[in-house]
Amino acid sequence: MDFQALFRPGILKTRPYRPGKPVSEVQRELGLDRVVKLASNENPEPPAPAVLAAIADAARELNRYPDGAAYALTHALAEKHGVAPEAVLLGNGSNEVIDMLIRALVSPGENVVFGWPSFIVYPLTCGIHFECGRPVPLTDDDRFDLPAMADAVDDRTKLLIVCNPNNPTGTYNTTAELRRLLAEVPERVIVAVDEAYFEYVTADDYPDTARWLDAHPNLVVCRTFSKIHSLAGLRVGYGLGHPDLIRELQKTREPFNVNSLAQAAALAVLADPAETAARARRNAARREQLAAGLRALGLEVVPSQTNFLLVRCPGSADALADALLRRGVIVRPMHQFGLGDGALRISVGLEEENAACLAALGEILA
Ligand SMILES: Cc1ncc(COP(=O)(O)O)c(C=O)c1O
Repeated sequence: MDFQALFRPGILKTRPYRPGKPVSEVQRELGLDRVVKLASNENPEPPAPAVLAAIADAARELNRYPDGAAYALTHALAEKHGVAPEAVLLGNGSNEVIDMLIRALVSPGENVVFGWPSFIVYPLTCGIHFECGRPVPLTDDDRFDLPAMADAVDDRTKLLIVCNPNNPTGTYNTTAELRRLLAEVPERVIVAVDEAYFEYVTADDYPDTARWLDAHPNLVVCRTFSKIHSLAGLRVGYGLGHPDLIRELQKTREPFNVNSLAQAAALAVLADPAETAARARRNAARREQLAAGLRALGLEVVPSQTNFLLVRCPGSADALADALLRRGVIVRPMHQFGLGDGALRISVGLEEENAACLAALGEILA
């Protein structure tokens, strides 16, 4: 039976998403006791104690289905952002929100404009959905080229995705740049701003686009609980947009797509904004520690607003990542993200994890 004949060409051409290696796999394969994972832009800190307590509490009712409408979380997010509850779309991670946008909006022959290199899920999802992706190269300083993206829009463009700050470069686009883009792009094109790393940003001219929703009915803002809030394993993120748009997107959401532990944990996060601010401060200090250490080793580090650093390597990034792996440090070579063999992405770890990474790099480069 030729199963391949059954599938759309876009599916056959797609290479599956390859996540960063889990710690247990590296321990098993290399026989190492201590392994440091700096590969998936996770927060190295565990969830806050109040969040863990809320999860334990919610676990007692795991025999029940989750609240399919996620009433409490939807209302808490609406209140946080000053929008109507109907403006909130919850996802099984913000990944699912991006997926829903592409699947719901794009018909064969239409396209989605995004910057590249960026988050691998954009080309992957577009690839399996009518091969609708239209990548636009970044600027020379590794940022989304918003004017070039506006130029790439045509009458068949349904969606334009801005990753801000961008994964894997850590760079960002300013308030003025985003305002110009929204003024230039026709209102019939949905502009999704993926702000997975929003809370980590320390730059003053970074936009809070969630405040612009009233002025721009074609704007969708995506956020997640996976990163700064340390809930990557639970899978909960959301989109904010015009209620008429969100109403249609809701139809593509699977029933119970956000599980009950995730709902309880996200609610506990929202109850403590001071904890989020403290997490951002701790990350900024550790990001500085890691960046300074890498630069002291002679490596070129792209200035980052996130919890990861893009590092350009003098030789093969794959070889360097492999040598680090053998010393128990998992980082991410950037092939999959379209950066060839010249760059590594290193997530910001705890102080001692950063130190272990720098020590291993020092040994290798010597
Ligand atoms: C830019 C960007 N958007 C979205 C996501 C997905 O996050 P989530 O865990 O909410 O699906 C990631 C995760 O790495 C990311 O880097």
